[in-house]
Amino acid sequence: MKQDPNQFVEQEANKIERRFKPHYHISAESGWLNDPNGLVYFKGEYHVFFQHHPYSAKWGPMHWGHVKSKDLVHWERCPIALEPGNDYDKNGCFSGSAIVHEDKLYLIYTGHVYTIGENEPDIFTENQNIAISSDGVHFEKYQGNPVIAAPPSDSAHHFRDPKVWKEDDTFYMILGNATPDEHGRVILYQSDNLLDWEYVGVLNDTKPLGFMWECPDFFPLDDQYVLSFSPMGLKQSGDRFANIFQTGYMIGSYDKDEHHLQAGQFYEMDHGHDFYALQTFEDDKHRRIAVAWLDMWETPFYEEADGWSGMLTLPRELSIGPDGKIWQSPVAELENLRLEEITHIQEHLNSKEVSLDTHQAEVLLKMGKTGNHQSIKITDQEDLELSLDFDHNNNKVALIRNGQVRRTNLEIEDTIEVRVFLDSSSVEIFLQGGQVTFSSRIFPVGNLKLTFENRELTDTDCVVYQLDQVIH
Ligand code: FRU
Repeated sequence: MKQDPNQFVEQEANKIERRFKPHYHISAESGWLNDPNGLVYFKGEYHVFFQHHPYSAKWGPMHWGHVKSKDLVHWERCPIALEPGNDYDKNGCFSGSAIVHEDKLYLIYTGHVYTIGENEPDIFTENQNIAISSDGVHFEKYQGNPVIAAPPSDSAHHFRDPKVWKEDDTFYMILGNATPDEHGRVILYQSDNLLDWEYVGVLNDTKPLGFMWECPDFFPLDDQYVLSFSPMGLKQSGDRFANIFQTGYMIGSYDKDEHHLQAGQFYEMDHGHDFYALQTFEDDKHRRIAVAWLDMWETPFYEEADGWSGMLTLPRELSIGPDGKIWQSPVAELENLRLEEITHIQEHLNSKEVSLDTHQAEVLLKMGKTGNHQSIKITDQEDLELSLDFDHNNNKVALIRNGQVRRTNLEIEDTIEVRVFLDSSSVEIFLQGGQVTFSSRIFPVGNLKLTFENRELTDTDCVVYQLDQVIH
């Protein structure tokens, strides 16, 4: 028999190597983490659940890990909320969402079942389930699970990642899904009580955007509707620096009678190397807050050897910017992480270096636009080379991590504004007040050096804060 997963995680947490363990981002205490799940504000606290394999630092039968916070900054660990093991979730409690109903917290998640057995993981069925809690910490699976036993008849076996919301007196659920001829789409269900669900139809199936859409979310933002999801199987087109492993969104108009989203173009949400499975929620202040997995499938997990894998992004507030796209800014509460100002430079220099002896820092930088190219580099004592390159001639910005290029369009008028959050093994970059973001994993060793290559004389204003440790 397997040891209790909570005990196992605690015991392993004493043994793990902490050199790359985040100090203020959510990661598993030990073991594996992927998608954020069940983001919700309940009885005065923020809850974040996550896909979790407690028994090793590799992906395995999915549990739901759980942390909560009063301020989105300081996180408290809670017991594992969901364990697989019932007939309907035998091989995993996959991603899903949360909703508050009649003073209780409901988790809605996908049960994953291998049809033939664990040796044939590509042959599976998926269904949707509910678990309920009064205190927000202990959850009981609903006796009537699964609440949706099988996908609609015109569907492939991919049928997962329910996101639930309430509008007027009706609950709605969207699911990531695929057609039998392998086109990704999002389908919609409705219910009066969260327990009995009726299939409504296809919310959106814009083609071609991969063979399956994972982790969909659908929400109003500044009077428009946004559908976000993580498509599997995007193909390279045009720009060879485009990211085929990404999370993106479409903004559109939602016909509430037809239950169909007439959507515009698909845009990448974050342009870094590691950003997937975004989920959002609305908090008590009516902010639309998003968290994503700060990692990517089919990439190496360097920290696996240390006994843990995977981390989440900082919570970000979303809005629609003047360019009609989603802008993201770190929630205001994150300023409470600042301990002391370590550096402040304000100089007219051709090239300037700042040395940092911490890996937990926030950098606020303003740099006058000048010349054709400008860049900001982060290097360590070994071979880390991260470069944020501005190509003003072509209105492009790129983040290059040891030769791996991620690039997008950005026109700078006269000042480059950069806000960078560095934690033990991550970097999150917010440009021009959140118009463009880059999130990537990095594994720095020793002191860091920031170098500003301005190419010509210009104004530079740079403040660096040491940040607090708020989670282990
Ligand atoms: C996305 C995903 C989801 C699934 C979960 C399994 O990263 O593949 O579609 O529910 O991870 O851990």
